[in-house]
Amino acid sequence: MEYGQSIKIKAPATIANMVCGFDILGFAVAEPYDEMTITLKKEPGISIVHTDDHQLPTEPNDNVAGVALQAMLSELTMPVGFDVIIHKHIKPGSGLGSSAASAAGAVVAANYLLGEVFNKESLVQFAMHGEKLASGVKHADNITPCIYGGITLIRSIFPLDIIPLQPPPLFVTIVHPQIEVKTADARSILKKQVYLKDAIKQWGNIAGLVSGLLQSDYALIGRSLEDVLIEPVRSILIPGFDEIKERSKSVGALGGGISGSGPSVFMLSRSLETAQLVEIQMKAVFQQMNLLHYTYVTTVSSNGVQLFSA
Ligand code: HSE
Repeated sequence: MEYGQSIKIKAPATIANMVCGFDILGFAVAEPYDEMTITLKKEPGISIVHTDDHQLPTEPNDNVAGVALQAMLSELTMPVGFDVIIHKHIKPGSGLGSSAASAAGAVVAANYLLGEVFNKESLVQFAMHGEKLASGVKHADNITPCIYGGITLIRSIFPLDIIPLQPPPLFVTIVHPQIEVKTADARSILKKQVYLKDAIKQWGNIAGLVSGLLQSDYALIGRSLEDVLIEPVRSILIPGFDEIKERSKSVGALGGGISGSGPSVFMLSRSLETAQLVEIQMKAVFQQMNLLHYTYVTTVSSNGVQLFSA
């Protein structure tokens, strides 16, 4: 541990839920990602500067990275502080784990500067304070893949039980229409109770998806990417959602759905060529609506937060 030392990190976007696994499945993608630089200082306290133009709060109590770092500092006996510079490329409110990237990036970087005193599970716990601030609920399905990389199953939050999965290669096409859906709002419209027949379908799909990933069975992955509980309610917030799904599958996508709480939509494919065809279909849907949108053709990434020397 050295006062004045800085570290730069990249924190990846993450896609929570993975269609049927509401709050329990998520994965990291290679792009987009946020960039941060954190410096360890002797004086207690956290300072935050944003170099992007998203106008996020910089007061540590109101900032997801700030509250995650405060949770970490409360476990330390020595008085230290951090200067944090954040440049976000993952737009807040996109459904691509923007708040998780800030919170997870901050605690991974801080832990490195402190000499790796905390394990990954503790880092997930600290970073979840950021999710609580952002959405009102501690959920770990963005935070965990952001820290671990790859696809992660969160079997339980209390107590935390994380199972990293080893997936086959998967290409990801993402479209982000320029409308904002707040996670808190997208959660508040969900039904509090479900029918047993729907629950049976859902857990069949989750088990099928996890089995498909572990066995590299793409057909099983594809037919398990079905959500009978959340998607029917939330998809009404995303114009063109059904058409995007239909057209993406017609050109060979395995399947997909809402990214986290939306409004971004993602599709999985076996090949880069298919993922690029899917992008064309996604663009066509929003172009015909005159709705501004951004797309990414990327991969499920085995990397979580990556460290670089400053
Ligand atoms: N599982 C969360 C939700 C993820 O869907 O509300 C939010 O990014």
